[in-house]
Amino acid sequence: MLKKQKKLILTTEQQDAMRRAGRVNARLLDYIRPHVTAGISTRQIDEMIHGWTIDNGHVPATLGYQNYPKSCCTSINDVICHGIPDEYVLQDGDIINVDITTIVDGWHGDQSETFLIGDVSEERRAVTQCAFDCLYLAIEALTPGCRVSTIGETVVPEAHRRGFTVVREYVGHGLGLQFHLDPSVPHFPNRQSRIDRLYPGMCFTVEPMINAGSRYTRSDKDDGWTVRTKDGRASAQFEHSLLMTEDGPEILTLTEDGPRRGHQFESNSGSRSTGDANVEPAS
Ligand code: MF3
Ligand code: CO
Ligand code: CO
Repeated sequence: MLKKQKKLILTTEQQDAMRRAGRVNARLLDYIRPHVTAGISTRQIDEMIHGWTIDNGHVPATLGYQNYPKSCCTSINDVICHGIPDEYVLQDGDIINVDITTIVDGWHGDQSETFLIGDVSEERRAVTQCAFDCLYLAIEALTPGCRVSTIGETVVPEAHRRGFTVVREYVGHGLGLQFHLDPSVPHFPNRQSRIDRLYPGMCFTVEPMINAGSRYTRSDKDDGWTVRTKDGRASAQFEHSLLMTEDGPEILTLTEDGPRRGHQFESNSGSRSTGDANVEPAS
């Protein structure tokens, strides 16, 4: 094993600290989940996240990170990642990824979910489903000591099979006392990910960003953060923090109320059922 990689292996005490950080972060996501609905602004979501984090004695990792101004990222529709909470009010038909990172006793928990707001288009629903399924397929493919490229080798064929694409510019990462550590965890296979391995005791994220159209990205010149799809079509993402153990990957950021492995996302149309949208009701 490379010396550089040995440093990424945590002691059992450090692993427990990461378990605690992941659990706190997941509780926070459960806390905000019922509020992520039409009519709330992303600024209000951010304020709730900031308040809960501080009230519980923790630190929001993104606030001030490389001058990032808020306590979470809120990425809506064609925004891939790093959307900054503002006065925008969520509307029926939006999809929004909320990405939360909490520092607990110095250790980081990092995760995100994409939420469907009311009655969303089939493309937005399907790209969200794809990102979710790709996250779990990648996690299930991991074994102790496997190559990091296992993730990309799982995610890319599944996304392409569904007619979608995988973002390359933004990647998962090692996680611990710092927000972003080695190894880099691309959701496509590359030269480095075929070398790097995930040994027991290592913590890292998996966070595939899936685009409905082209994989290409464009970052906002004015705010310096917001990353959008080049073609304006939808993008979705899910993220977990993981610990590799001798028995395989352990998800550190499992929520109580969030979607579980195998979850089927549905457009909440109320009276209208999307599957039958083109079918005349029986009279
Ligand atoms: N939470 C993101 C990740 O998963 C990073 C956000 S950094 C910020 O790696 F500065 F944009 F907040
Ligand atoms: Co991350
Ligand atoms: Co994140």
